[in-house]
Amino acid sequence: MQHVVITGGSSGIGEAFARLHLARGDRVSLIARDAERLAACKERLAASGGTLSAHSADVRDAAALEAAIAAAESEFGPTARLITSAGVAVPGYFEALDADSFRQQMDINFHGTVHAVRAVYRGMTQRRSGEILLVSSAAAFVGLFGYTAYGASKFAVAGFAESLRAEARRHGIKVAVCFPPDTETPQLEAENRLKPPETAKITKTGGIMTAEQLATSVVREFERGKFAIYPGLRVSLLGRFSSLARPAINHWLDRTAERADR
Ligand SMILES: NC(=O)c1ccc[n+]([C@@H]2O[C@H](COP(=O)([O-])OP(=O)(O)OC[C@H]3O[C@@H](n4cnc5c(N)ncnc54)[C@H](OP(=O)(O)O)[C@@H]3O)[C@@H](O)[C@H]2O)c1
Repeated sequence: MQHVVITGGSSGIGEAFARLHLARGDRVSLIARDAERLAACKERLAASGGTLSAHSADVRDAAALEAAIAAAESEFGPTARLITSAGVAVPGYFEALDADSFRQQMDINFHGTVHAVRAVYRGMTQRRSGEILLVSSAAAFVGLFGYTAYGASKFAVAGFAESLRAEARRHGIKVAVCFPPDTETPQLEAENRLKPPETAKITKTGGIMTAEQLATSVVREFERGKFAIYPGLRVSLLGRFSSLARPAINHWLDRTAERADR
């Protein structure tokens, strides 16, 4: 039984990670902004086993997030595993995304992730143990049409994970980052309404997973010691070969975007 803290735990992928850990009997703390969504999620998870608590905080507010994680730790003990799933995705043509949209996605997806890690990091270094699983996106190892803001924020998460892994291992802390493809969640539903047709055509080629399939496959790879976790066959191939095959992949992505119905 371990204490697992999940930012963005009230919905979608975060909720699926929570369900999986509760079923193992873990103590799980959910963190998200909306208290009503947190309460509804607690009800949905009530029959899952384990022990659950929920704390309202905005990951953009480092002090509020630190206080929420401190409250969670005083209830359930030190964080053994942090999963940073809080995030937003606003696709669109670059010329249609204003500076506020860029700022919001960087603030939540990147700075929110850093704030969550900072809130548990000192304790983990003192205990010389801890696990940190960051949620990036399949839009973060090749630049995808329609994701100038979202993709950049998730590339930033991946870059942060790379450096953090290198530093954290000397404190006995394990770090990994996962790159989900389209996953059936409330966020994807909202995102699909905003995707330019080119983005919709491209993201369809990555396949789609349920949040439960995604969480199960990511946790399995995490516990096998993988650092970069590419769920699903297509994302896995793209992730492994993208740096070598970048010119060919970009050529194929460009042709796919050109063939989208507009
Ligand atoms: N679904 C996909 O296709 C997909 C693919 C690749 C990567 N991802 C990534 O996976 C993660 C989870 O996405 P999802 O699809 O599960 O989304 P979701 O169903 O919309 O859930 C997002 C969660 O994040 C919380 N959240 C959002 N902004 C927050 C903030 N400022 N402070 C605290 N919590 C916040 C939400 O609660 P509140 O709004 O109440 O705060 C909610 O609990 C995201 O990082 C997303 O970018 C998703």
